[in-house]
Formats: sequence, C-alpha cells, structure tokens
Amino acid sequence: MELGTIVSTGETPNTQNFYFVASKESKVKKGLFVQVKTSEGLLIGRIEEIIKTNRYFMQPETISTYEESINLHFPTDKWEFILCKVFCLGVLNENIGKTTFPVSPGQVVEIAEKENLKKAFKFAENGLNLGNLIGHDLEVKMNLNKLFQKHLAILALSGGGKSYTTSVLMEELLKRKDEDGKAGVVIIDPHGEYTSFAYDERFQKNVNLIKGKDIRIGLTHLPPYYYKLFLPNMSFAQERDLNKIIEGLKKQEDVFSIKDILNAVEVSENIKQSTKDVLLSNLDSLKSLGLFGYYDTPNVNNLVSLGKISILDISNITSEKKKQMIVSYFLRELFNRRVKRKVAPFIAFVEEAHDFAPERSSKENFSKGIIKKIAREGRKFNALLCLISQRPVHLCTTSLSQCNTFMFLRITNPYDLKHIGESSEGLTTELQRQITSLDVGESVIVGEASPFPVFVKVREKEVKDIETNKNLEDECREFDESEGNKRKDAKDLMR
Ligand SMILES: Nc1ncnc2c1ncn2[C@@H]1O[C@H](COP(=O)(O)OP(=O)(O)OP(=O)(O)O)[C@@H](O)[C@H]1O
Ligand SMILES: [Mg+2]
Repeated sequence: MELGTIVSTGETPNTQNFYFVASKESKVKKGLFVQVKTSEGLLIGRIEEIIKTNRYFMQPETISTYEESINLHFPTDKWEFILCKVFCLGVLNENIGKTTFPVSPGQVVEIAEKENLKKAFKFAENGLNLGNLIGHDLEVKMNLNKLFQKHLAILALSGGGKSYTTSVLMEELLKRKDEDGKAGVVIIDPHGEYTSFAYDERFQKNVNLIKGKDIRIGLTHLPPYYYKLFLPNMSFAQERDLNKIIEGLKKQEDVFSIKDILNAVEVSENIKQSTKDVLLSNLDSLKSLGLFGYYDTPNVNNLVSLGKISILDISNITSEKKKQMIVSYFLRELFNRRVKRKVAPFIAFVEEAHDFAPERSSKENFSKGIIKKIAREGRKFNALLCLISQRPVHLCTTSLSQCNTFMFLRITNPYDLKHIGESSEGLTTELQRQITSLDVGESVIVGEASPFPVFVKVREKEVKDIETNKNLEDECREFDESEGNKRKDAKDLMR
C-alpha cells in the first residue's frame, strides 16, 4: 500500500533519515514500518515522527492581520499536509545490511509488507509468539536461540507489565514442540505470581511448584564453601574448628542436622571456649531460619528438565537473608551441575533481580555472587539468566551489562533510563524517549535477538489467574469480616 512521496529538505534524504509527504488517504502512524525500493535493495524504515504543516499558518503576522478567522477567507484546510520523518533501519536483500546510499526525492513510500518484515526481524516460524508488532498485523515470533543467545533482561517501572510478559514467555516455552528444542526453566518467584501455572490444567503437568515452607538446604553434602558464605563474619579459627566438626560428623553419621552440628560443637574439647561461644551463636542464627535439613528439597538434580518449569515460590518467606540463601544455593548448585553437564540446559528467571543482585550490596547479600558468575560464564554452558527488575539503577551493573537482549516496557525514571542506556549498547536516546511513552503491556526488544528494535504489544496471556488482585475496598471489607469472625469465635470460646 502506497503511503506517500519522498521530499527533499536540504539535509535529507540521507543514509539515516528521509521525509515523505503522506498522501491524503494514507493512514500513517508513528512507529509504522515502511519500505522503499532502492538500487541497493529494499530499504526498510520506521516512521519516527509525524508533523502537520500548513503554509497559511506559518507566519504569525498573517494570522494577526485577520480580525476574523482566516479559515473564512481562504481554503486553509486544503493546504494542510502531513510530513513523516523516517528512520532508515537497513536494506533488505538475502540478509539485512546497512544503508550506504540515500533514497531519492520523488520515490514512492509503501507500508512494509509482512514477509519483508519477518525477514528483516528474523522472526522464526517456530519462535516464541510474544504478541503483535505494534502498528502491523504481524506476530512477533522470536527465535529462542537468538532471544537467549546470552542473557535476557526484562525491565520496566512497577506495573509496567514485566510479570505479565514473563508469563507469556513461560507459556511459549511450555508450548514448544520437542523438535523445536525445549529448555529447562526455573523461576525465582518472590511474590507467588507464577503459581497459577501449577493450577491451570493446560500447563500443570509440566510445572513443578515448590513452596517456600518446604524448601530445605541439605547439610549432609553441603560443601564448606556455604558455611563461609552464609556466616560471613566467621573468623579463621571458627571456620577451621567448624570444618573439623563437620568432617567428623561426615565420618560418623549418614545424615546430620544443624542440631547435630550444634551439639558436636558444644561437647567438643578441642575448641577454645571463646571461639565456641561465637560459633554456637552463629550456628544458632542459621538454625533459627528453619532452612537447613538432612537433604535438599527440591532435589537439585531434578530441578530443571527440558520443557518443564520449576517455580520456587518464596512469597511466604519474610527473611531477606533466607530468600537470598535459597537463590544462592539452588542457582549455584544448578550452575555447578550444568558445568559438568549433569543437568539440562536451563534458563533461570529471577524476579526482583535488584534484590538478589543489587548494585550496592553488603557482604551479606548471598545471591549476588552467583548471579554475577552465571552472567559472566553461564553462556558457554547454556546456563542462562532472565533478570526482571523495576529498578534497573539498583541492579548490579556487571550482571546487567552481560545481558545482550533487553525487553523494555514503560520506564519513566530518568536515573533508570540513564543507567540502562549505559548498560545496553543498542539503546539510543531516541529509543529511551520512546520507552517513556510506551503503554502498559507494550514493549521494545533491543539487542542480539533482532537486528532492529522490535515494538511489540504483548499478547494476552492464556494461563488463568488463581487470585486476581483485590482492590483496597474489597480487601478491607474482607479483612474486617474475618476479624469480626475471629472476635465472635473468641467470645464463643469464653462462654
Ligand atoms: N500485555 C498485557 N496485556 C494486558 N494487560 C496487561 C499486559 N501487561 C500488563 N497488563 C496489566 O498490567 C498489570 C500489571 O502488570 P504486571 O504485574 O506484569 O506488572 P509488573 O511490571 O510485573 O509490576 P511489578 O513491578 O509491581 O511487579 C497486570 O495485572 C495486567 O492487568
Ligand atoms: Mg511483577
């Protein structure tokens, strides 16, 4: 479909931009993809801005001389026209290449055809269907290999649609056919937002939901590294004595608990009393978390399987320390096993990634180290990350800069925009501006996954929510009723 004719504006057309005047009946929109036939091939561009002009209204003096409306004297509406500024994305032949020569004034601009866009964006028939290309009737089907060539980051302000988009990604990963290649997925779910997958009959057979209260780190095979990590204030003497106690227990017992370690420290005659006291207090603090058991739950060896999703629902855990320990332990153990090829290739989705890998962190952030390690080394082993965050400025820069594809939804905070601009090469100032004006559920994908930014209206998710967010009034009413019932029960009991 023809949209208009290229005009010459002194500076343009050049290899980056050109302007065209839209024909009266054409429905141009900002963001629409266009094509122009050139000697180099088919140029693909994107309408970056739309300007309305009218020669009658260009000079303020002319307007001011008319007492009455100028429209009564002249056919002003006939002189209005629409000028579109196009950003040249590249030239499509077998592949997409750079534009090295400008288009000519007078050439016809057409709406980009579906097939050409598929080719230009490298969408795959068996790709992950995330929604529709904004402004076009074309499904955005991202190639799995390209989307996860390295790590992915999903960033937006709170309520921008990160978790919704992640659910869509999960559905696509769960629906993949064997022949298309499936990945193992584990998701760190601090708000219990993904639990609905375990109750939806279409997905549940491939979903393993692990509730926070059931999660245990097994002490029987726990390497000494973790004692040092989880007790960062342990002195050299405490560490040495603790290691000896644990070695002793390993020789004597098939399994042991934190209580057994505490007892063994208490009765030991080889530990100085002052060291013993601090060590006991340290171990007691670990015991109070209720996280350590004889064996791991879930079993790390079964945590990831191809085409399946394991959800670590840690929403009922209040201790930040405990949540980080869980993330630290299970991600590290998964990574170690992946290096030895003992578990399937996996993608670890980390919600609220700024909490688990903060830019500034005390020694006591247990999970940052392993997230950074996977970010740096994971790709070689297909141990991949998807970092999801509403505060990119607080997210560890090393980890963020290792992501080579970004899905941005609406972000308005200037600090966050500056930070992501520094971490993501493909994010131009113009794109940053566009990110601030995205609607909820609209996303732009930038990076290795596609040669150009993909603007996508994320499709509706299929998984049924088990609990929709209640509004304030309903929640207060329910709370009041349940408090009332409790008081009634208490009165009945007293009678
Ligand atoms: N693609 C979409 N289509 C329809 N509705 C959407 C879409 N994306 C988001 N929404 C709506 O916006 C709401 C907020 O989305 P979501 O919970 O994913 O935000 P978020 O970025 O994860 O927020 P938070 O930072 O608070 O976790 C959803 O409950 C849903 O109603
Ligand atoms: Mg969310």
